[in-house]
Amino acid sequence: MKIACIGKGGSGKSTISWLLVQLLAAQRRQVLAIDADHNMDLVSLLGKEIGPDTPTMHRRHDAFRDTVGLKEDKNWGRIVLEEDRVLPSFALDPEDSYTRSIRIPINDSVSLIAVGLGSDDVLFSDRCSHGHSAPLKFYLPFLDEGADTDVVIDGVAGADMMNFGLFLGADAVLVVVEPHRNSMRVLSQVAAIAERSNLPLFAVINKADSNPELTQQIEQEWGSRIVGHIPADAGLLAYDLARVAEATRESGENLLSELRSRTAKRNDTLVRIRAFERERSKAKA
Ligand SMILES: Nc1ncnc2c1ncn2[C@@H]1O[C@H](COP(=O)(O)OP(=O)(O)O)[C@@H](O)[C@H]1O
Ligand SMILES: [Mg+2]
Repeated sequence: MKIACIGKGGSGKSTISWLLVQLLAAQRRQVLAIDADHNMDLVSLLGKEIGPDTPTMHRRHDAFRDTVGLKEDKNWGRIVLEEDRVLPSFALDPEDSYTRSIRIPINDSVSLIAVGLGSDDVLFSDRCSHGHSAPLKFYLPFLDEGADTDVVIDGVAGADMMNFGLFLGADAVLVVVEPHRNSMRVLSQVAAIAERSNLPLFAVINKADSNPELTQQIEQEWGSRIVGHIPADAGLLAYDLARVAEATRESGENLLSELRSRTAKRNDTLVRIRAFERERSKAKA
């Protein structure tokens, strides 16, 4: 399955992405972690740094366009809208050459792709962060991750990238929500966009025990969309699975099995992304 973690800044997206990656690896799954955020926290939580020669999606932007046969750096929607176009296809095992050029091995189970939004070459470039993320948007729906692999994406804070359709190729978005007004507001915004774009949405309440009253309110409002609770756990701050509390680990495992059963029936990603791009091109015309 492909899961994108989103939510308000500071809600725990990177921490929960990291936890899911570690738990999946402990279950002997293969995991592709994708860091799509400016802060590049998942990169660092997985023990990596983006050096001048580290491959990122950003640095391979032109290679992606060559691979999908898009000459100009605009109208990305053409990839899915032009009927005579051969659709791209990406895979992890065996890897296609584009994937090979950007994937960074972490260990036997985990590998990493960084969009590279936080690197200096992006900070001083005049392409906007939507433009930088466009390859990921069109990589995800065409990536066949295989039956043994899961994909966990750590996204940019807030609802903005949802409007751009960045995660339409995921099986679901997982909103990380804290029992806090502002965090709950972001959940509502993200959910409204997910609904419009037909993208399955679930939420996990992080630090659920920090405000039982608001946690209850979130549960009442979102009902079955809530697929887990992660306690506040100082052990998480070490980013070492051995130091994570048993209760946190159990909650994370329950969350994964809930997500797996709820995403088991795949909906048609291509239909979703086509509809979205058709709307966008109509709106622009
Ligand atoms: N369940 C938790 N228990 C304890 N600390 C947490 C928990 N979730 C997140 N944190 C801490 O809260 C801060 C923000 O989390 P982070 O994952 O960086 O959020 P985001 O990626 O959404 O900005 C970090 O210092 C992180 O270690
Ligand atoms: Mg983060």
